[in-house]
Amino acid sequence: MVAIERMESSLPSHVAIIMDGNGRWAKARGLPRAAGHRKGADAVRRVVEAAADFGIPYLTLFSFSCENWKRPLSEVDELMGLLRRYLRSEIAELHEKGVRLRVIGERHRLAPDIVRMIEEAESRTRDNSRLTLVIAISYGGRQEIVNAARWLASKAAAGEVDPEAIDQELFASALETQGIPDPDLLIRTSGEQRISNFLLWQLAYGEMVFTDRLWPDFTREDFSAAIAEYLQRERRYGAAISSG
Ligand code: IPE
Ligand code: IPE
Ligand code: MG
Repeated sequence: MVAIERMESSLPSHVAIIMDGNGRWAKARGLPRAAGHRKGADAVRRVVEAAADFGIPYLTLFSFSCENWKRPLSEVDELMGLLRRYLRSEIAELHEKGVRLRVIGERHRLAPDIVRMIEEAESRTRDNSRLTLVIAISYGGRQEIVNAARWLASKAAAGEVDPEAIDQELFASALETQGIPDPDLLIRTSGEQRISNFLLWQLAYGEMVFTDRLWPDFTREDFSAAIAEYLQRERRYGAAISSG
């Protein structure tokens, strides 16, 4: 904590988290996977509060991937139920705390009542500026890139975009994360060291911190330890190593 406050100027602007390990947390206790997901929701509350307290402007949480639709229906239902409960019970408090909510992912695959709740929450919190909480639901990095390419191709075919004018900036503006800075830091819990189709474009130069902690056990202290590790890193973006 001390380290973080001292180096406030270099804090990451955007932290993205792959919240993994709910199933293993439950299994280790002889509980159903659903119990791990429920406990994981408490960890979400902890990190959102911590991000706001630390002064991190953007936090993105990977809640459900496009590939997670392949899980058993009962588990998908449980996760969607938790999402409903989160949207129903937390938005007022998030709004009060100055949190702006944004949801990315293939929204058309979600139940209509969830889509409605997301739209309401986004419009209610749109003018808040303390923390932007981005929740990735039914999200896949490749899907997002393909959707952006399709949209730009249709604009080009209609004569509205010159193909020669398509550069990184224009392409990024066609992604769902338009207007959000790229993550400086990616944290993944549970010991897995892979991206699992999360923010593929945006993480081009993101620093990655992997921790063995299972998501339901992830604390504010774990969060600040990951940020402290990030603060030790030297970011080079392809340039030569700095001397001295
Ligand atoms: C993360 O925990 C939650 C989601 C992916 C929705 P998992 O459910 O993947 O937990 P493990 O990886 O099986 O332990
Ligand atoms: C990534 O975790 C997706 C989320 C945390 C929402 P998974 O558990 O689905 O990823 P894999 O299958 O281990 O790569
Ligand atoms: Mg997992």
